[in-house]
Amino acid sequence: KHDWLLPAHTKFPKGRTLAIVVLDGWGEQIPDQYNAIHVANTPTMDALKKGAPEHWRLIRAHGQAVGLPTDEDMGNSEVGHNALGAGRIFEQGAKLVDSALSTGKLFHGNGFRYIQECFAKGTLHFIGLLSDGGVHSRYDQLQALMKGCAANGARRIRLHVLTDGRDVLDETSFKFVEQLESDLRELRKHGVDALIASGGGRMYVTMDRYENDWNVVKRGWDAQVLGEAPHKFKSALEALTSLKAENPKFNDQYCPPFVIVDHGGKAVGPILDGDAVVTFNFRADRMIMLAKALEYADFNKFDRVRVPRIHYAGMLQYDGELKLPGKYLVSPPEIERTSGEYLAKNGLRTFACSETVKFGHVTFFWNGNRSGLFNDKLETYVEIQSDQGITFNEKPGMKALEIGRKAQDAILSGKYDQVRVNLPNGDMVGHTGDMKATVFGCEAADKAVKMILDAVKKVGGIYLVTADHGNAEDMVKRNPKTGQPLLDKDGNIQILTSHTCAPVPIAIGGPGLIPKVRFRTDLPHAGLANVAATMMNLLGFEAPADYEPSLVEVAN
Ligand code: 3PG
Ligand code: CO
Repeated sequence: KHDWLLPAHTKFPKGRTLAIVVLDGWGEQIPDQYNAIHVANTPTMDALKKGAPEHWRLIRAHGQAVGLPTDEDMGNSEVGHNALGAGRIFEQGAKLVDSALSTGKLFHGNGFRYIQECFAKGTLHFIGLLSDGGVHSRYDQLQALMKGCAANGARRIRLHVLTDGRDVLDETSFKFVEQLESDLRELRKHGVDALIASGGGRMYVTMDRYENDWNVVKRGWDAQVLGEAPHKFKSALEALTSLKAENPKFNDQYCPPFVIVDHGGKAVGPILDGDAVVTFNFRADRMIMLAKALEYADFNKFDRVRVPRIHYAGMLQYDGELKLPGKYLVSPPEIERTSGEYLAKNGLRTFACSETVKFGHVTFFWNGNRSGLFNDKLETYVEIQSDQGITFNEKPGMKALEIGRKAQDAILSGKYDQVRVNLPNGDMVGHTGDMKATVFGCEAADKAVKMILDAVKKVGGIYLVTADHGNAEDMVKRNPKTGQPLLDKDGNIQILTSHTCAPVPIAIGGPGLIPKVRFRTDLPHAGLANVAATMMNLLGFEAPADYEPSLVEVAN
């Protein structure tokens, strides 16, 4: 049996309140006019950077440092918060799916056999994000999956695609749909009846998270399962072209739902009894709500109208605690013994808070994709309801100040050892590509940081401020050699809505920090996974031996 007790640290004392602030989407980049964080007035974060050099540094937040396949992979909140909370680097979904596909193991597992049972008589449906962003899904994986299913007996395939524009450039949906159509043509040549059946933009159709707005999932359900949508087209390319022509504000993220119909006007691919369904995203947060709708017999979030009897498998199991979905093609990373569980087992009290759209990041992802509390006597998780039905450039302040206030109250209450928050602005507003709004959002996040640092000062505590990945610090696509913004074919600067590969800052301080604490200088390649051990030290404990090393030491 595992020994949960963490030994007391010989140099770092116990008993200080530790505030942990994760600025979502806040990286370090060239300080120019396209860097929203640089343009923003952020006196608090600036002061941390200009303060003691031994208390501020950069750490890696992308690629292999967070368990992604390559160092070309930008960071994201799932892998970032997993690394922050777990203190170790686990091979993440993207990588696990890659190896399950390349070894062919995927096609021999229980999950695959389960969907295969429907191949002879039913249709195989794929639902997921059509993108090569590598955050939620990757197109080459979908390609390999379709091919492998056809080789293993699938005779009829229908695709329900969600357009991206958030992890990849806006309007790349056209290119992905063309690619998909060509791959489906190839399948048809080999006797597989393969078609796109429905579509919609990821932020408006299906991919909501943390139950912010069930209408998003319902729109998808109507199109994918019932074959109903306000827009009907003969092909997905026609859908995108017409919808864009109709609406000057058209973008991939918010594309309205559509279904593809045959010459008689009948939907070509509703989900019916006896069909198999695969959600091909590997990332959890934005698939869980759909997984519940597909899997739960008892379900009251919206009227499903018709609930087909299907064999459903996720690319991964999205929630280990809920065992959702029950069947999956690839086993998820087993992220166990997270820092949150250690703190609870050692009697430390934790407060965690964010607004809905990031709430699961500081709880579910932080705790290794695990729902719920470890110990309800010791932990309090507070969710502030996010604004619904808007794009976040409309209200770029989001709930930053409310989160700041909740954290302040928690710190001043003296009831908690660790107070942990996520401030979403840099990321959520950064994803809109709206520079002005993102600047405003970063200023709001900076104000919230100040509120938290002020409270830390009052109670003699310690703060640790960091970020999960880059986003707002780079609002344009750049020439990798010159750093200059790239232009599109009309001569306009290409707006970058996605995350980046930038490193992120980490700063420590507060009156509770004993003298001579400093960042070690022998860990130049440290990343987010080094933060958990750091935090345990600052709370007065040694970290578990297999955690990535702590960033701090006490000088002699
Ligand atoms: C999203 O899901 O909003 C983006 O694909 C990634 O953003 P996140 O990793 O910051 O949540
Ligand atoms: Co993001």
